[in-house]
Amino acid sequence: MIATRAIAAADSARWLELWDGYNRFYETDLPPRVTEQTLARLLDPATSVIGRIAEYDGRVAGFSASIVHPSTWEIEPVCYLEDLFVDPAARGHGIGRALIEDLIAQCHERGWSRLYWHTRADNLKARRLYDQFSSADDFVRYRLFRDGR
Ligand SMILES: CC(C)(COP(=O)(O)OP(=O)(O)OC[C@H]1O[C@@H](n2cnc3c(N)ncnc32)[C@H](O)[C@@H]1OP(=O)(O)O)[C@@H](O)C(=O)NCCC(=O)NCCS
Repeated sequence: MIATRAIAAADSARWLELWDGYNRFYETDLPPRVTEQTLARLLDPATSVIGRIAEYDGRVAGFSASIVHPSTWEIEPVCYLEDLFVDPAARGHGIGRALIEDLIAQCHERGWSRLYWHTRADNLKARRLYDQFSSADDFVRYRLFRDGR
């Protein structure tokens, strides 16, 4: 019922719909050129941006977007899960879990030594799922933007 795989160019239109839903979830309105570049990177196997898709009953119903990068703490690359989204109409059927399990499998296949991600402290729906994989640690996030945002 659930199948996961790499994103392909043929998924672009559906991915854009899901990306739009993800942006609405975060109440953000990214400039179209950011979306275009993100999609282009996801589709380009030469970049370190990893796009994975979940199909549910044959229809694309969710995606993950991750960045693989070197780490000063480990010999092998590590994988940062930046975005995870499931179509609201398809939630609660294990698709989110399947997308995380898919990345764990990718870690094994591609030799990435760690998968990590963060979420808002109050995203209880997501955290209920995440807590089934690992416990949250006690790090907090700081951000500085060049343009002073
Ligand atoms: C967080 C999110 C990705 C989870 O996706 P999902 O597909 O609904 O997740 P799952 O179905 O794998 O798990 C969610 C619930 O369904 C349950 N579930 C899993 N398999 C199931 C199945 N076969 N049948 C019924 N329920 C199932 C899970 O146990 C979990 O329920 P519980 O935590 O209440 O016990 C989704 O809610 C989402 O896109 N949210 C908005 C964006 C977001 O928050 N992204 C993460 C930001 S970091």
